Amino acid sequence: MRVLLTGGAGYIGSHVALVLLERGDDVIVLDDFSNSSPEALRRVEKLTGKTVQVVEADLADRAAADAALADLEFDAVVHFAGLKAVGESVAQPSRYYRTNLNSTLNLLDIMRDKDVRKLVFSSSATVYGTPAAGVERLDETQPVGCGVTNPYGWTKAMIEQIITDVQRSWPELEAVLLRYFNPVGAHPSGEIGEDPSGIPNNLMPFVAQVAVGRREKLAVFGDQYPTADGTGVRDYIHVMDLAEGHVAALHHLQPGVEAYNLGSGEGYSVLEVVKAYTDASGKQIPYEIVAPRAGDLATLVADPAKANERLDWRTTRSLDDACRDSWTWQSQNPNGFAGA
Ligand code: NAD
Ligand code: WQD
Repeated sequence: MRVLLTGGAGYIGSHVALVLLERGDDVIVLDDFSNSSPEALRRVEKLTGKTVQVVEADLADRAAADAALADLEFDAVVHFAGLKAVGESVAQPSRYYRTNLNSTLNLLDIMRDKDVRKLVFSSSATVYGTPAAGVERLDETQPVGCGVTNPYGWTKAMIEQIITDVQRSWPELEAVLLRYFNPVGAHPSGEIGEDPSGIPNNLMPFVAQVAVGRREKLAVFGDQYPTADGTGVRDYIHVMDLAEGHVAALHHLQPGVEAYNLGSGEGYSVLEVVKAYTDASGKQIPYEIVAPRAGDLATLVADPAKANERLDWRTTRSLDDACRDSWTWQSQNPNGFAGA
């Protein structure tokens, strides 16, 4: 298959590119490198011995997207491109809505013009908003958009609706919405991994930068949640398991729109992540407990049964594997791709 990855130079896209190339698929990446480095794709090429066709363009700019994709042929699209920082989306809502929604609308129009019918979309567990009290593990029947607390999350919920409406008007469209839980880890080679710009928003890249000495200590956002140790519990999914989930989704596409949770089904607390990372790295991870972060939930864990059964996919890597692989990446690349 010839697969277009929008945003394919980013953290998750680069791992998906690698897995597709290793399987023998052809990969085209469209990226504006606003939050990534071309070095990630050079490393993917080095690891696989294959070539990635790279097109630099802003997908949110219709004329640029048309020009970039006019002469390209592809069978399927995995749509990663977009802005993803929750706090930034609260400060810059127009930019988030404009970029994420326009990118998707442009892509859907271009796919229709070219009669490319296969689409896998990077959605997020954030579309579930604030689950009803007592819901322990989220399955895909949970309502979308209830209690979403930030514009980033709304863009994901809106894009799910846009894809659903477009499919109603274009019944041949085969779309899957992948609701990722908390992607972590790196390719075990340590050649590619998560390289956040500025101060990391997410837990594991922050912990990794403390372990490598770039930051002094972790701020743990609250220890009075109704969880075993009082800190927030999340479902951390190894990025290689996540990448394999995309391959499974691409191979199970059929006309219609189907949503799948990609998670492990297991929850770990912040302090359990700190402990696992300390063990994996052999480094001290100093931390202090601070006030809870606005909008955070106590617990967010996937019920991945639907993906397990219908996509014949499940996670095979543990939190310890993710910490080990993250540490290999971080220790080999203390300044990310900028140091390359
Ligand atoms: P990332 O920022 O590393 O990758 C996104 C890529 O899209 C980057 O390479 C960026 O340069 C590119 N991009 C952004 N705007 C663009 C535009 N207008 N035109 C072309 N390229 C553009 O993020 P990621 O962690 O790899 O996430 C990939 C997707 O998965 C995103 O849609 C994100 O919202 C979603 N997601 C991520 C997480 C997570 O925790 N990492 C969780 C759930 C969902
Ligand atoms: C995990 C846990 C924090 C940082 C976010 C987005 C979500 C999705 C994944 C894209 C929580 C705690 C964190 C820190 C901490 N992204 N924490 N100190 O918030 O579950 O999900 O990323 O779709 O939409 O909201 O992930 O890694 O930020 O936090 O104590 O410095 O770690 O409170 O309990 P989150 P996270």
